[in-house]
Amino acid sequence: MQERLVAAAREAATRAYAPYSHFSVGAALLGEDGQIYVGCNVENASYGLCLCAERNALFHAVACGCRTFRALAIVAPKPSTPCGACRQALAEFCGPTLDIFLAAQDPAVPVTRTFLADLFPNPFTC
Ligand code: THU
Repeated sequence: MQERLVAAAREAATRAYAPYSHFSVGAALLGEDGQIYVGCNVENASYGLCLCAERNALFHAVACGCRTFRALAIVAPKPSTPCGACRQALAEFCGPTLDIFLAAQDPAVPVTRTFLADLFPNPFTC
């Protein structure tokens, strides 16, 4: 499962639109429905409009009708944790035990495993 998810995120990263940062990110969410939902970062000349790969994958999944998830893989030039905004967005739909795999585009770099609760222990709720 981990390998399949990381491979999907790695492929998504190759489709990133990142002409400003040159930092291509891919994300892959495994839904409770068994489907994999991918996203990549999409940048804009108006920098504030840039969308992270993680939120792109999450919103893609929600638009496809999936709202519960088992795991997330993120691939970037170096293993990178999701930004704060993406952590809060993930917390809206994912429980604290969500498995998160952090990988580099280079498959020789070891994959790190963490959990949403480790990265974001106290999400905002209302
Ligand atoms: N980026 C992501 O895709 N995910 C994150 O969690 C942090 C940053 C993207 C946004 C931007 O396109 C590029 O990486 C550099 O910040």
